[in-house]
Amino acid sequence: MLALLRRMNRDLGSPRGAMVLVRNELVTRGVASVPDGVLVEIVDEVHLPLGAGARRAARRRVTHRDRWTRSGGSGSMERMTTFDAETRRMIDANRANWDARTPIHAASAFYGLDGSRPAAGWFADYEWDDLGPLAGLDLLHLQCHLGTETIALAETGARTVGLDISGASVREARGLAADRGLAIDYVQADVHDAVAALGGRTFDVVYTGKGALCYLPDLDRWAGVVADLLRPCGSLYVVEFHPLLYALGVVPPADGSEELRVRGDFLAGRGAEERDATRTYTDGPALTEATVAYEWRHDVGEVVTALTGAGLGIDRLREDRRLPWPRWSTMVRDADGWFALPADAPLIPLLYALKATKPAR
Ligand SMILES: C[S@@+](CC[C@H](N)C(=O)[O-])C[C@H]1O[C@@H](n2cnc3c(N)ncnc32)[C@H](O)[C@@H]1O
Repeated sequence: MLALLRRMNRDLGSPRGAMVLVRNELVTRGVASVPDGVLVEIVDEVHLPLGAGARRAARRRVTHRDRWTRSGGSGSMERMTTFDAETRRMIDANRANWDARTPIHAASAFYGLDGSRPAAGWFADYEWDDLGPLAGLDLLHLQCHLGTETIALAETGARTVGLDISGASVREARGLAADRGLAIDYVQADVHDAVAALGGRTFDVVYTGKGALCYLPDLDRWAGVVADLLRPCGSLYVVEFHPLLYALGVVPPADGSEELRVRGDFLAGRGAEERDATRTYTDGPALTEATVAYEWRHDVGEVVTALTGAGLGIDRLREDRRLPWPRWSTMVRDADGWFALPADAPLIPLLYALKATKPAR
């Protein structure tokens, strides 16, 4: 193992004096045993083929590094992430894309910030059952965008913080909360840097989803951040579009009706998908700049495995055939204002909701 670590130090070009550890193999034991003042880099998915080109190949497979330093006399460890240059470029492109989408979304009927779409309408009943009473708890909404769901979460009486990479979104969310007289604290940061951006604050509940995870390149890294943000016994609640929703596409047959077919990946693993689109998913005008965005497919198994790998226990995993908006023209609105395929269509999941809890210690 020592020889492997030495070779990784050389191949990954780690700083002088730093130790390199491979996540999932050594990270927990390794960080705990690092002497004060030693810089530690934790890398994912290091691939070290033998023979010519090994150094180049090793660099290509590293998706990110976590840099842990032991701060001051407190002995606590702070984590900062650096991604490889290509992944960084894609995250930066996404930030610019979300900044460009924000004014269009804020003016859209889809989000209904004029009051035409109450915040509670973004939640299914079972979400409130799973979340339980939130009043008085510290709650963090990751990737909160305009803060529509954040408002509903804050209205329960939770002390609420929203975090998003898009400065334009965070500004819009602050205005919306002020208009409603809600004391929500908003922070602009990349979710991967949330621990440092929030100054080491921890939470009883972390909520995220409905179009969030697809913008994250590395779920192991995300799950590690979530685990750091939770207090012991605190819970993550993630409500996400099902991989099947992303995989299905419409094939218009001759008679004009819509037919759904599997047209995209259901499973993770193909890397980033680049999308260059002037139209966003809401109504409103076209984007005039920053039209390129990157998405990563994440299957449910990957999400569960990332969270259990970060030490969380899975409490609940639901699948739902409904969505809070009509993805296809054939979808029918139910009494709650959510949308499902017609009653005679096959029952397929379009959304999933997962609750995971950090152990007491
Ligand atoms: C579709 S919204 C999800 C929020 C909410 N469900 C909604 O529909 O408004 C996706 C949000 O993720 C944010 N985002 C994308 N990548 C991020 C990152 N690396 N860190 C933090 N936020 C990110 C975007 O800025 C955007 O506001």
